Order: sequence, then C-alpha cells, then structure tokens
Amino acid sequence: MSQTPKRMRVHHLREAKERGERLTMLTAYDAVTAHIFDAAGIDMLLVGDSIGNTMHGHTTTLPVTVDDLIPPARAVARAAQRAFVVADLPFGSYEAGPEQALVTAVRMMKETGVAAVKFEGGKRVVPQIKALTDAGIPVVAHLGYTPQSENLLGGPRVQGRGDHAAEVLCEDAVAVAAAGAVAVVLEMVPAPVAARITEIVAIPTIGIGAGTGCDGQVLVWVDMAGMTDWSPRFAKRFGEVGAALSAAATAYAEEVRNGTFPDAGHQFDA
Ligand code: KIV
Repeated sequence: MSQTPKRMRVHHLREAKERGERLTMLTAYDAVTAHIFDAAGIDMLLVGDSIGNTMHGHTTTLPVTVDDLIPPARAVARAAQRAFVVADLPFGSYEAGPEQALVTAVRMMKETGVAAVKFEGGKRVVPQIKALTDAGIPVVAHLGYTPQSENLLGGPRVQGRGDHAAEVLCEDAVAVAAAGAVAVVLEMVPAPVAARITEIVAIPTIGIGAGTGCDGQVLVWVDMAGMTDWSPRFAKRFGEVGAALSAAATAYAEEVRNGTFPDAGHQFDA
C-alpha cells in the first residue's frame, strides 16, 4: 500500500478499496512464514483451514478442528507486526447458529490474538455475521467455491456460472456486506461476476481464482511459493521453494554422510 499503516486494521481495508489500492493476502500457519510474509509487506495473513490439506496431510478441510487452528493462529498473530491476521472458523464450529459461532469466535479471539475470523457461506450465515459484528468481532466472509461444502458442490468447481447462479452470488455478497462483514473472499468465481460483486459492495473483495477485478488477492502460500509438484490452475508459482528446500536437504545429508559437516567453523573450541 502507498500509505503504509503501522498495523493494518479494518478501516485500512475499506480505505484501500476506496483509494483503488489492491490488498495482498497469503495464508500462514506458523511464526516463521508469518514473519517472512509480514516483513514482505503482505497486508493480511489468513490462518486458513487449508492447513488440513497443506500441513496436516488431509485431502479436505473437513477434519480440521478449532483445537487444530488455535496454536497456528496464536503463532501467526504473535509473529505479525503489521498484517491484519484472520483465522478461519473450521467446519462444524459455526453452522449451528449465531450462538455457536459466537462461542467459537470468542475463543479464537481470546486464545490467539487474531484480528478477525472468516467463515464460509452467504445468506445462510448472515445471523452469525451479525452476532459476531455486534460483539465486536470483525468477520471476513467467503463465497463462491467454499471447500467446507465440497461434498455438496461436487469438489473444487467454479461457482456462479450462468445468469441465475451469478445473481445468487451477487445477492449473497450484498447480504454478507449488509450484515457487517469487513471483507469477502471470492473463490473460483468467473472474473466478470467477481468484478460485478466488487462494484456493488463497499467492502473489499479478495479473489482467489476470481480474476483481476477484485480489490485484493489471496493465495495459499505453498501454492504461491511452489512448494509442491502440483498447484491449482489459478495459483501462479512465484518461486520454486520446494525444489530449493529439497536441494538444501540433499546437500546437508551429503555433507553429514561424507564428514564435511560439521567443519571447524561450525563447532565449539574447548
Ligand atoms: O483456508 C484457506 O486457505 C482459504 C483460502 C483458500 C481463501 O480459505
């Protein structure tokens, strides 16, 4: 951002949209990466339930629990000096209604120090968004492809294609904004639909596989950094960090095996 605040807060998100400045967001699940991304000037860090797929070896986000997310959220919140830190509410922790969502979100805020929570859904979660907002907890909404509903949606598929689906998505976006959401993630949405939503809501839209017309972008950091062999079509690889890490581990193993590490420079004298 051109006018860089010391600490990103909710009003900075809206002001960035008003000024036409794009917001940057990455996932982070630990203090090491959170520190690197924060120092690189990333505006928002998401402790996403994608931790299930990326770090915990699950094939979906569905098994992730609140207990799974609290330690990483705490680590990311501690490490971030400037970024606005958001934690996901995982599957099963908010759908039952506003009371359940409030209990989960209060626990997340108290035990981690994050600045906001995110959960999936449109009109169906408006009561939850209102309850949290009334309690002083900022909510980031998440529309389009919502991975916690992957069984209903038939897997990762573009959402909002066709006039009717696009209209429903626009209505959902207007509803979550009116309920008090401070930003909305749009995942796997046709670019023209995401651009239209960006025009009709006052809160920032953060796209992932939603084209260039959004107010900001988010990527799962392992996709962004090229940690794995495969990455989704919408996720550009901005580095090949997986290959670099593999080369470092291979070189380390070789030097340990052939006795060149540790050398005189990496040991203590008597
Ligand atoms: O959990 C996550 O990483 C997310 C992003 C895909 C937006 O929700």
